[in-house]
Amino acid sequence: MCDKTAKIGQIAPDLLAWYDVHARDLPWRISPSDGASGVVPDPYRVWMSEIMLQQTTVAAVRAYFHRFTTLWPTVADLAGAEDGAVMGEWAGLGYYARARNLLKCARVVAFEHDGRFPDDHDALLKLPGIGPYTAAAISAIAFGRPEVVMDGNVERVMARLFDIHTPLPAAKPELKDHAASMTPQHRPGDYAQAVMDLGATICSPKSPACGICPLRSPCKARAMGTASELPKKTPKKPKPIRRGIVYLARRADGALLLERRPDKGLLGGMLGWPGSDWTDAPDPAPPFDADWQTLSGEVRHTFTHFHLILTVETAPLPETLTPDSGQILPRDAFRPSDLPTVMRKAYDLWQPESL
Ligand code: ADE
Repeated sequence: MCDKTAKIGQIAPDLLAWYDVHARDLPWRISPSDGASGVVPDPYRVWMSEIMLQQTTVAAVRAYFHRFTTLWPTVADLAGAEDGAVMGEWAGLGYYARARNLLKCARVVAFEHDGRFPDDHDALLKLPGIGPYTAAAISAIAFGRPEVVMDGNVERVMARLFDIHTPLPAAKPELKDHAASMTPQHRPGDYAQAVMDLGATICSPKSPACGICPLRSPCKARAMGTASELPKKTPKKPKPIRRGIVYLARRADGALLLERRPDKGLLGGMLGWPGSDWTDAPDPAPPFDADWQTLSGEVRHTFTHFHLILTVETAPLPETLTPDSGQILPRDAFRPSDLPTVMRKAYDLWQPESL
């Protein structure tokens, strides 16, 4: 075996040995020692965690994962949940299409697969909300298949191990080829999580702790002194700014006028305040005629593709109003935590002055 192959062949065993000692204690995870004693992961919890972890940090996911799995311990429980209850529990986690697909997927698994997640990549890919990353992660972690699991952490580790200077996203196929060359047949689920943990803890974006890295010997970027510059990224286009108006109306008894947003589109299926479109120059669209007052201050929120600035208008909600659209929620039925963050910001701006 040539020296280079020997080094690459040693990466998975070295990483697994590191993981046996340093694996993060995460609520959806089977610890390496439990895994060695024959405990197997619950595919439902693996799936739930992987959906929540897309574009979201472990720190943000913990509480949501705990709440979801307490309220709905099995896929059958989740499949039987009310749409509004699931969307409300997801509020604040962002990327709300994930929540809509979570529910759809739970229903397909419960009603079309007898409550069992399919155990291979291609069948998983057919389920709502499961793309290549999630299918690979579930098949590796829940079913022990040697899949190549690529996320941002794994890309960074590969770019450094092999000192790849091609910028992302063009570098993705090359990084995946390197990752594939190292994926072991033995403990592939632990291995996938070990690479992610290494990326999240030691091989971190800004100041990697190369001195204590279990892969410092084969790492080419460490040898070249380039680790902290990698991976290179093609600069993103600046995000445009859009504007909008939201209308917050409250009755004397505390009831509020809200609306459920259409299923398709941004914040689809979530509860929110009636409002204008979000454009360069929004047209006013008050839900009823009133002497609307503009709050001082604005709501600022950033979505994936644009920054949003919202003006907040308020008015008393007439006792007798039957709204053309939306719903009047009695004070007791309203939980601010059911609102997506941008709508919650509008509520918070209003609340200190008038409630
Ligand atoms: N990020 C996404 N999935 C993960 C997992 N299973 N372990 C650690 N980090 C992750």
